[in-house]
Amino acid sequence: MNILRVGDSAWAAVTKSSAFVFGLEAAGEDSRVVQWYWGPRLPDEALAEVVRQAPRRIHSGFHDPRDVDELLPVEGGRRWGVPSLQVTYEGGVRSVELAFAEAVVADSEIELVLRDPLGLRVGLHVRVASEVVERWVSLTNEGEHAVRLGRVDSGSWVIPERAGYRYTGVAGAWAQETQVHRAELAVGETTFTSRTGTTSHRANPWIMIDAGDATEELGEVWSVALAWSGSWRLTAQRRPEGDVAVTAGFGHDGPTWLLAPGESLHTPPVLGLRTSGGYGAASRAWHDYARRHVLPTPFEERPVLYNSWEATWFDVHEEGQIELARRAADLGVELFVVDDGWFGGRVDDRRGLGDWWPNPDRFPRGLSKLFDAVRELGMRAGLWVEPEMVNPDSDLYREHPDWVLHYPGRRRDTLRHQLVLNYGRADVREWAIGWLSGLVSEYGLDYFKWDMNRSFTQAGWPEAGERADLLWIEHTRGVYAVLDTLRERHPDLRIESCSGGGGRVDFGILRRTDEVWTSDNTDARDRQAIQEGYSYLYPAGAMSAWVTDSPNPHTRREVPLAYRFHVAMAGALGIGGDLTRWSAEELAQARSLVAAYKAVRPVIQHGRLHRLAGDPGVTASAVQYSHEDRVVVLAYNPFALAKRPPRRVRLAGLDPSALYESAEGERWHGQTLMSHGLELPTWFITGPDYRSEMVVLRRVSG
Ligand code: DGJ
Repeated sequence: MNILRVGDSAWAAVTKSSAFVFGLEAAGEDSRVVQWYWGPRLPDEALAEVVRQAPRRIHSGFHDPRDVDELLPVEGGRRWGVPSLQVTYEGGVRSVELAFAEAVVADSEIELVLRDPLGLRVGLHVRVASEVVERWVSLTNEGEHAVRLGRVDSGSWVIPERAGYRYTGVAGAWAQETQVHRAELAVGETTFTSRTGTTSHRANPWIMIDAGDATEELGEVWSVALAWSGSWRLTAQRRPEGDVAVTAGFGHDGPTWLLAPGESLHTPPVLGLRTSGGYGAASRAWHDYARRHVLPTPFEERPVLYNSWEATWFDVHEEGQIELARRAADLGVELFVVDDGWFGGRVDDRRGLGDWWPNPDRFPRGLSKLFDAVRELGMRAGLWVEPEMVNPDSDLYREHPDWVLHYPGRRRDTLRHQLVLNYGRADVREWAIGWLSGLVSEYGLDYFKWDMNRSFTQAGWPEAGERADLLWIEHTRGVYAVLDTLRERHPDLRIESCSGGGGRVDFGILRRTDEVWTSDNTDARDRQAIQEGYSYLYPAGAMSAWVTDSPNPHTRREVPLAYRFHVAMAGALGIGGDLTRWSAEELAQARSLVAAYKAVRPVIQHGRLHRLAGDPGVTASAVQYSHEDRVVVLAYNPFALAKRPPRRVRLAGLDPSALYESAEGERWHGQTLMSHGLELPTWFITGPDYRSEMVVLRRVSG
């Protein structure tokens, strides 16, 4: 039982270490469903104590911030904070007025039902999933008139009062995704949002808040994340009185959604997690949640892949690909993925998107010869696709110009010479399922890299009339539906989510994809910061990371092969360089690093992550993974001497009394490794820039 009744109309959602207590503070025509407590787990018999406490604020006529504690503050009545729900009824009436109707309780889920006499039914859903509390909202129009929805968030969370409030989040841009930002939360309203139609490179839909005292290993942290892959909005509201609430949901300012009589709308889940043990423990709890409740294949080992994009760009040919495949197989690669440029007239980014058949000049015998060769070499076969896009210069667009997002009488602005197909349309979804499924069947494909390379503009849906703004929801749902159908039809198919790099990384897409591409920036040093930000929420096993060429094609930075490998080995290892230009020594070194990775792959992909030290890519740093009886430390030192690190790195999360043995047979107690530390030649001995190493320890007793 994860939902406990703790009063007449009060409940607690309990996890192993936390409790979230909520219920009805006021009934009647102005009902208030509030959060009373979100903190460490209390004994069951104590849970009612937080409910009995009198409201701590004075409700005066002028200052009546009644909404800050509510699970879903509405726009209506005596509320002036950020509304999680905004509705306009017939005749322009805007005040939402909810009366509590009933609570429907199941084992680990509860729905609190409220009704507005104007005909809106609002369901507040709470469910426990491991350490995470999942919440979402269902709306049904039970009235006779359509209603227009403005903001429909999945829920608002109160962060308990503390001396100070600091937030942590990630923000970035193309090629610099998921950069960690940490600062005091300003008094006022801080909004993180995407208006692009995707999760976006600019921000990622989560926030962590602490009292200003949390470190990597110590302190309470409250996190809120949204499981959604379209536009979104998350607002952290800090009032001068000291309260902080975080509301998050799909959509962004501007679009409004029409709900006709009898229709319902369900929001995506917003997820709340409270942890002690610093940011590190918060991340580990998120990774655990991802593995138990989100990822479709969390305990599989992700294969070492080769992707030809940076080797060939658009110059993709049967012979060239087979040559790369031979070299990749020789290194121990297990999955060969052909990237952009294999289809239609796609010889550059100006044409061909939408024409999903092999380019007859480049693959005169279709893709069979290539993929037969790939299989003979012992590898699985994967293909890049961009199913949501079309180049105006394509047969598809010439045949179906109405399939793209557009408004009559407005421009159709292209980006990278392409337009967005409207996945809200059933015919577009059917078309996509048809050819995607056809490719899997025809070529026995094991893997799709599903790319999405542009943001929405002129996001109209003429056939939908007044309902056109629903596109912002329906496109994403349409993409989900196509992915779900593909997986149902082809259970062995694995899918990577890519969006011009890391534009679509979130708990929504991770429910139906096995890996994500975090950035087009494959420069190992830049990548370290990107991977650090990614690791705050998402697990290493789902993070696709490639070793590419030096100098890096994007940054021109020269980085030794081992360092590039050690950075990519921190996730699901891939290789994306031009192997025809790697020297015999480099190929030999790569072969042994691939083998070394495979030997520890379950530890890295499924292990518990500790970000041990340093500012990745800037100073010496190290990450640790522990799984069953093994511990892997990846250590990096980008600079020779100027920023000299400590001599030893202190490990974390080990059994203090157990003995751990290195490959060389040296043994230490867990406590020694955690208190005194492990000496790292990479950190200690002076030498050139970009030194790195992998240390593997095995627990041998205790
Ligand atoms: C953007 C992706 O992030 C790249 O990896 C590559 O697949 C290109 N698109 C291909 O157009």
